Formats: sequence, structure tokens, C-alpha cells
Amino acid sequence: MSSVLMLLFAGILARCACSAGDSRLLLVSFDGFRADYLETYKLPHLQEFIEDGVLVKQVMNSFITKTFPNHYTIVTGLYEESHGIVANDMYDADAQKTFSQFNDSDPFWWDEAVPIWATNQQQGKGASAAAMWPGTDVKINDTTPQFFMKYNFSVKFEERVEKVVAWLNSSNPVVTFAVLYWEEPDASGHKYGPDDTQNMRTVLEEVDKRIGFLMSKLKASGLWDTINIIITSDHGMASCSEKKLIILDECIGRNNYTLIDKTPVAAVLPRQNKEDVYNLLKNCNSHMKAYLKEEIPDRFHYSHNKRIQPIILVADEGWTIVQNESLSKLGDHGYDNALPSMHPFLAARGPAFRRGYTHSSINNVDIYPMMCHILGLTPQPHNGTLGNTKCLLADQWCINLPEAIGIVIGAFVILSTFTCIIVISKNRVVPPRPFARLQLQSDDDEPLIG
Ligand SMILES: *[C@@H]1O[C@H](CO)[C@@H](O)[C@H](O)[C@H]1NC(C)=O
Ligand SMILES: *[C@@H]1O[C@H](CO)[C@@H](O)[C@H](O)[C@H]1NC(C)=O
Ligand SMILES: *[C@@H]1O[C@H](CO)[C@@H](O)[C@H](O)[C@H]1NC(C)=O
Ligand SMILES: *[C@@H]1O[C@H](CO)[C@@H](O)[C@H](O)[C@H]1NC(C)=O
Ligand SMILES: *[C@@H]1O[C@H](CO)[C@@H](O)[C@H](O)[C@H]1NC(C)=O
Ligand SMILES: *[C@@H]1O[C@H](CO)[C@@H](O)[C@H](O)[C@H]1NC(C)=O
Ligand SMILES: *[C@@H]1O[C@H](CO)[C@@H](O)[C@H](O)[C@H]1NC(C)=O
Ligand SMILES: [Zn+2]
Repeated sequence: MSSVLMLLFAGILARCACSAGDSRLLLVSFDGFRADYLETYKLPHLQEFIEDGVLVKQVMNSFITKTFPNHYTIVTGLYEESHGIVANDMYDADAQKTFSQFNDSDPFWWDEAVPIWATNQQQGKGASAAAMWPGTDVKINDTTPQFFMKYNFSVKFEERVEKVVAWLNSSNPVVTFAVLYWEEPDASGHKYGPDDTQNMRTVLEEVDKRIGFLMSKLKASGLWDTINIIITSDHGMASCSEKKLIILDECIGRNNYTLIDKTPVAAVLPRQNKEDVYNLLKNCNSHMKAYLKEEIPDRFHYSHNKRIQPIILVADEGWTIVQNESLSKLGDHGYDNALPSMHPFLAARGPAFRRGYTHSSINNVDIYPMMCHILGLTPQPHNGTLGNTKCLLADQWCINLPEAIGIVIGAFVILSTFTCIIVISKNRVVPPRPFARLQLQSDDDEPLIG
């Protein structure tokens, strides 16, 4: 009994041995990497990465399922309404400022939250470094990562990797946290649509080669065995079609409203009476829902921010909202975050993570507290739950219901076995005669007749 307990204990201790502390963490995002691409395409480098670490098959991302909002959620653990980057295109009526992916560097937009790269530097655990992750070239909370690149989509992946690995490899200062961003497979997902398996295969194979390149660079620098790496994404992709257009001009005059963000979640700023505009929009198309800001479903966590416009329109999966334009892309995202097509995956490896473990799902707000735990940081207020990622971490005691039942039954079997042995050995006053049992058995064996 005690030896069994000791074994169990030793197991727990062994898992606690590789605890958080002096670790380095690299967070990588491949934009628009839909969760099921992992099952559809052969991606040997990514598979090799996962075999040695953990895989979360689906990450429940945040609404709206767009790039800037979700990248900021990953590094803050906050829903979009709480971190303030509520869309790729925004308008702030009070400040009369406009945000777009081409004009994103005013700190005003980002300062409603403090991202992990700033907290990492402020709490003095080490420097942070960044290669093109949204927001990393902006002075948020009065600071940028100590090392960063100005956003430029023409800069090759290889160049980004070489920079990041060199920064991580420096010892003065020690870079404990780094982020790396790549625009694919999002760009091709929009262009070809996610169902174009021939073109998407080519793109995903390229992405996989890039993961291989990153791995080889980390191995060459000697970082591979000690660094923790998370590979994830912001959102998935759905197929769009010319047959699935929602044309606003057929329902409402353009002078009635300003369209701040277009599709698949349109942000509408009424110019006339809000109720009138809403009434014109709410019955516009059966494949689009119109919400007054006050009526946006709670599960979206998308209403408590002044940058969310008074009316939002949410298209059904695969539908595109236009004023009167024709379809310009075959794939899109931004839709309801409950749709599996909008979900990315997460893979991670390194001393902080378990090995060879697959988990069904987490929320992307849970990634932030997990990263803070690995880096030994006190997190800012956030919407995630560390407990949701416990099973991914090597230093956490992860136990699920079937395992718990198994352990209870196992303990019961062991206990009763020991009790039986003790009872039997105590009752064995007379040493058993050889073959006694055999004889008894043959006595009992009555012939079967008939
Ligand atoms: C970018 O946005 C700022 C406000 O945040 C504005 O003052 C500036 O004119 C914009 N620049 C361009 C080129 O649109
Ligand atoms: C940075 O964030 C902290 C914590 O939220 C806050 O107290 C501080 O005022 C912020 N500083 C700046 C310069 O924004
Ligand atoms: C962006 O990167 C490309 C390729 O390295 C370079 O030629 C170009 O000058 C850069 N653009 C800016 C604005 O820095
Ligand atoms: C990383 O640092 C180690 C030790 O300082 C050094 O031997 C190695 O060459 C460096 N690698 C790269 C790629 O700079
Ligand atoms: C608002 O839209 C309605 C319906 O399309 C139209 O009749 C009306 O003229 C519009 N008003 C303005 C000011 O554009
Ligand atoms: C779209 O609307 C604009 C402005 O009303 C008009 O000039 C243009 O011809 C329309 N285009 C199409 C394809 O209907
Ligand atoms: C998310 O976290 C922020 C910061 O703690 C908090 O203000 C907000 O109420 C939270 N949102 C939800 C839905 O709990
Ligand atoms: Zn995109």
C-alpha cells in the first residue's frame, strides 16, 4: 500500500520539478489557421512539434472573430469590449478618431489594456521582443517591447525568425518573452476560400516548412531544449459565395447611416433616428441579424465599450454584407465565435508543457493567464481561467472526471485486496495442505447430465 502511495507521490513531485521560473516563452501566430487544417493537410513539422508537446484541437476565440481584436485578446486575456480593440476598423465618436489596419499606431486605441510584453518588462523578469505582432510597434502603456520591428508585410518570415531568435539568444539583456506573427494562411484563405484544398494545400505546406525553419533555427542556437513555444492563431475561415450577398442598399438609403466596419459584422452609426435605422435593417435579410447595442447577446461579451457602434449587423456563416459591391473574396472570418469554422488551434512544447497530450478546447482568453504563469508574472485583471489550461502544464496536477473515477476505483481495489490478504493470512491457523484446493475443486465438480 505505502509503496503504491509513494509511487503516486513521486509522480506528482516529478511533475512539479519542472516548475515556472527562469523560462523563456515564444508565442507564434499564423494568421487564419483554422483548427481543422491540421486534420486535412499533411504538416510533418507541425506534427513533430505537437508529438513532443500538447495540442488543443479547438480554441474558442473572441467575438468579433477578426485579426486585431483576437491578437489583442491573446496577449491581454480580455474580451474585446474590455481591451478596446473591438474591430479592424473603428471609430471613436468622442475623440473623433478612426482606426484601421493601415493607421493603427495611435496609442489611444491600445491603452485600455496592458499587454503581456509590457507587464513582462515592468515586473522586471526580462526584456520582451516582437516580430510584427499587432500592436507591438505602438507605445502601449508608455512602452514598446525593448526589441521590435515596425510592421511591414513585405518582410520575409525568415527575416522575422532570424531577428526573434537572435534576440532570444542574447544574454544581455535576457529576453524572456517574444512574439512572432505571419500573415498566412489568412491571406490565401481569403483569396481562394478554405474549401479550395488544392491551393490551400500549397499554402499550408509552405506554412509547415516555415515552422520547420523556426524549429531548425531554435535548435541551431541551442535554445530548443529550454524554450517554451506556443503556436496558435487568431481565427479560422469560412467560404463565401456570390450567391450569399446581403445588399444593404436594397433596405436603407446610404445617407441614413455611416458604415464604420463592413462585413461579416457591420458596425452601423445611425445618422437619422436610431430606431428608424434599426427598423429598416432588422428585416433586411433573413441571413443577417441586426442588434441594437443594448441587445447584443451576453455570450459575445461585446457591448460595454463606446467603440462598439449603436447598431451591429451579424451575417450568418458564409454570408457577406455589402452596400452594393460585388464579392471581392472567397473566404472570410469575423462571424459568430461559436462556429467551429472560426476556431483556430493551439500547440505548445517545452519544459513548461506536458508531452504527447491532446486537449479538446480552451478559450483564447485562457492563454494569457497560462503565459503569465509560465513567466512567473502577476497577471493584470483578465477574463481567462488558469484552471482551463492546467492539463497542458507540466507543473499542474491535472485530473479529469474519468481519471478521478479510475483512481478511486483503483484505490478501492488495492485497499480491498490488501484487506483480504490480511484477513486470510490471519485466519490461516493451520498451514494449508498441498493439493487441498485441487481436491476440493474436483469434489465440487458434479457431472452434468442431460
Ligand atoms: C490616423 O489616425 C489618427 C487618429 O488616430 C489621425 O489623426 C490621422 O490623421 C490618421 N492618419 C491617416 C493617414 O489617416
Ligand atoms: C500603465 O498601466 C498601469 C496598470 O494598468 C497603470 O496604473 C498606469 O497608469 C499605466 N501607465 C501609463 C503610462 O499608461
Ligand atoms: C518593407 O520591407 C521591404 C522588404 O524588406 C523593404 O524593401 C521596404 O523598404 C520596407 N518598407 C518600409 C516602409 O520600411
Ligand atoms: C546563441 O548563443 C550561444 C551562446 O551564447 C552561441 O554559442 C550561439 O552561437 C548563438 N546562436 C546564434 C544563432 O546566434
Ligand atoms: C433613409 O432610408 C429610407 C429607406 O431607404 C429612405 O426612404 C430615406 O430617404 C432615407 N433617408 C435619408 C436621409 O437618406
Ligand atoms: C453602387 O452604388 C453607387 C452609389 O449609389 C453607384 O454609383 C454604383 O453604380 C452602384 N454600383 C453597382 C454595381 O450597382
Ligand atoms: C473581464 O475582465 C475585466 C477586467 O477585470 C472586467 O472589467 C470585466 O467585467 C470582465 N468581463 C466579464 C464578462 O466578466
Ligand atoms: Zn483575415
